[in-house]
Amino acid sequence: MELLDLTLANPTEVGLTWPDLFRRLAACEGVSSYDPSPGGQPSAREAVEAYYRDRRLDAPANRTLLTASTSEAYGWLLMLLSGSGNRVLLPRPGYPLYGDITRFGGWDAGSYRLQPTAEGWRLDRQDIARGLAAGARALVAIHPHNPTGAFLTAADQRWLQNACAEAGAALIVDEVFADFAWRSDSSAAGAPEFCYHDSPALLFVLGGISKTLALPQLKCSWIVTLGPERVAARAQQHLEYLADTYLSVATPTQALLPELLADRSAIQGRIRGRLDTNTRALEVAWPSLAAPPHSGGWWRLCPLRPGVDDESFALALLRQRSTLVHPGYLFDAAEPAVAVSLITPEETFSAGVTRLADMAYPFC
Ligand SMILES: Cc1ncc(COP(=O)(O)O)c(C=O)c1O
Repeated sequence: MELLDLTLANPTEVGLTWPDLFRRLAACEGVSSYDPSPGGQPSAREAVEAYYRDRRLDAPANRTLLTASTSEAYGWLLMLLSGSGNRVLLPRPGYPLYGDITRFGGWDAGSYRLQPTAEGWRLDRQDIARGLAAGARALVAIHPHNPTGAFLTAADQRWLQNACAEAGAALIVDEVFADFAWRSDSSAAGAPEFCYHDSPALLFVLGGISKTLALPQLKCSWIVTLGPERVAARAQQHLEYLADTYLSVATPTQALLPELLADRSAIQGRIRGRLDTNTRALEVAWPSLAAPPHSGGWWRLCPLRPGVDDESFALALLRQRSTLVHPGYLFDAAEPAVAVSLITPEETFSAGVTRLADMAYPFC
């Protein structure tokens, strides 16, 4: 039986590449000199501002700072915010990366729950309030969340900003998947944009081209620093000092960023098309897994029956049906589940989730 791998989330391995990338790189001007700028080249930062403007969001270039990856952005923010009693609240389930970055940064990783509801996964506000009251200095929210796909509702966004402000905690919103709703039809339309305006909390918004442009190999992400004017301006100043120490974003990438962001519609259209097709294929194979409205991102968590050991299930699926999925515990899922990558090529995905659903049937 052919091995079907449903865990590939690297766009360059699943055919989501730019056909003219070499030409663009070769034609890129200004790469033979080095003129470092701590927060990133002004033209690159202005391109990020323009990207947000297209989304009708205000993210001024002078509050934007480039990093080599979103992971690096997290690391820098933890350095910036570091003080006494370093504790950050991370979503559970969540992407495994955050726990490691937190520990490497010398922080204590606390968590808050997301709960499944009929409308999709939602923040557990009581859990967050408890974590903030216990002294957390920062909270990470993912919009849309990996791996549940939930966009934060407008009400939860406002509530989070107020709760963090009251507790004196910084809010870090990771939006790397914000351009990618699962469904292209009306069920995806209207997924709430993250509302940045007038945040009473110090707010850091993270994005990057590893997902937005499917270009992880070019290494470029950004932090937009917002919130109360004086605090945000000071945070930006400190971040620029920190960034000046590393100057980690390559000059050719910065030089290319404006044209790549401006030309994003083709690659994003292909990714959205794949997410849409694969989401529908999953619903056909596993009808109880209809996508809740307003969901997005590149991963999908598929719940199994309570009591099932998800690692044993994933191993049995691999041995008996030659299909590779991630067990949900890798994403810190509280209930048994497996996770599949929605950017898997369509044919592989459809065949793979059919095998998955057949095997899961008694367990889901
Ligand atoms: C939600 C989320 N944020 C950040 C990252 C890391 O992004 P980057 O490749 O820019 O470091 C990932 C990686 O998949 C992710 O899933």
